[in-house]
Amino acid sequence: MSVVVVIGAQWGDEGKGKIVDAIASSVDFTIRYNGGNNAGHTVINKFGTFPLHIIPCGVFSKKAKSYISNGVVIDPGVLVGEIELLQKAKIDLQSRLFISPRAHIILPYHKLFDRLFEEAKAGGKTGTTGRGIGPVYADKVSYNGIRVSDFIDKKKFKKKLETQLLIKNKILKAFGEKPLTLEQIEKEYAPFRKVISPFVKELFGEINKGLVSNKQILLEGAQAVFLDTDWGTYPFATASSMLPGSINALAGIPPQKITNTIGVVKAYITRVGAGPFPTELLDATGEKLRSIGHEFGTTTGRPRRCGWFDAELVRFACELSGISEIALTKLDVLDTFKEIKICTGYSLNNKKVRYYDGDEVFLGKVKPLYKIMKGWNTSIQGIKKFEDLPVNTKKYILEIEKLAGVKVKYISTGPSRDALIVR
Ligand code: GDP
Ligand code: IMO
Ligand code: MG
Repeated sequence: MSVVVVIGAQWGDEGKGKIVDAIASSVDFTIRYNGGNNAGHTVINKFGTFPLHIIPCGVFSKKAKSYISNGVVIDPGVLVGEIELLQKAKIDLQSRLFISPRAHIILPYHKLFDRLFEEAKAGGKTGTTGRGIGPVYADKVSYNGIRVSDFIDKKKFKKKLETQLLIKNKILKAFGEKPLTLEQIEKEYAPFRKVISPFVKELFGEINKGLVSNKQILLEGAQAVFLDTDWGTYPFATASSMLPGSINALAGIPPQKITNTIGVVKAYITRVGAGPFPTELLDATGEKLRSIGHEFGTTTGRPRRCGWFDAELVRFACELSGISEIALTKLDVLDTFKEIKICTGYSLNNKKVRYYDGDEVFLGKVKPLYKIMKGWNTSIQGIKKFEDLPVNTKKYILEIEKLAGVKVKYISTGPSRDALIVR
């Protein structure tokens, strides 16, 4: 039995989708367990190019059952769009895609609140994706949520929505916004109910049985450690946890069943939205990373902020999440850099400090300490073995491994499934 978790160990967009797709071929269950369509996971394989926001990236594996667990928040319209996109590409979803009845659904007022709350914060914006993620999770924990099981029952949905609109319209009024009507939302969401209902099934029993019968389970985390509500750069964070420990609550799998945790990291680092970023490059080098790495958001199209690899962050992510293997992605993006810097740690007032020593203001003040590495100035595309990589590429990987304290097992050298070295 193996229960493998894949998480981002930076600020998101590390290439989790690519790694999940590449390692999913033999799994029995592929499970998305947190976040919603704030995530954008790009998969490029023999079936085409897919920007997936809710459906697990392991869905292309013939054998696997795909599950959207209770920890995910679902925008029904986006889910329907994704189901249709996959069906168009002839990916069979019948009896293969399952949606937890416990998952919460995103409603129009969540997206409105997301925007209104951000606007009200003026200078202190988080820079959210605007998908209603914070507000829907807030409703979940304040007993105001509407779940998939409510949604697929027309009468129950109407009753719950009626109650919620009484509350939500008071808030909208205070913001000077027009109230929302029950009829409007019911009309918009009715066609989604029809498409989604056949996929709704609690998979706990089946997965639980699978745990004792040697089934292979792959869990796909969205977002990343430094966007985690508790351990990320709060309030420049997201509203869910992707840490392996949260999987117990978010997908119903006991924590001691997890066998491996793969931390996905880019060979440099990016971030979308606001918040501290010690190794950010606001110069031509940052621009070069963005341009070669196509660093524009999969979900919102926003340009991603780019910087040098931050080993302090990755080391902390490994310590916190028990990462057992690193998947290093986008190494090919560095092919033409003469010099590559690695941040080996931070100092503040001439004293060495760690990420966890302070808050988001503290992180905005730390000074990154750099080690300069020589570039390799040649293309690494198509290389299949670690031994065949240029000497300086190997040195760079081994330095990352040493600083993180965890083995780099996967090395990604291009966006498609097959551009991967397994050590
Ligand atoms: P995710 O959110 O972690 O799944 O990552 P995204 O899909 O949002 O962003 C990663 C981007 O990098 C996507 O456009 C991928 O196709 C691309 N990508 C992934 N791995 C590699 C790689 O090794 N090299 C290059 N050049 N691109 C990659
Ligand atoms: P994947 O899974 C990168 C960021 C947003 C914002 C903050 C809060 O593709 O790696 P939210 O809409 O969640 O309330 O926004 O979190 N963010 C992401 N950044 N990749 C993601 O997902 C992200 N999901 C949320 O940009 O800064
Ligand atoms: Mg992404």
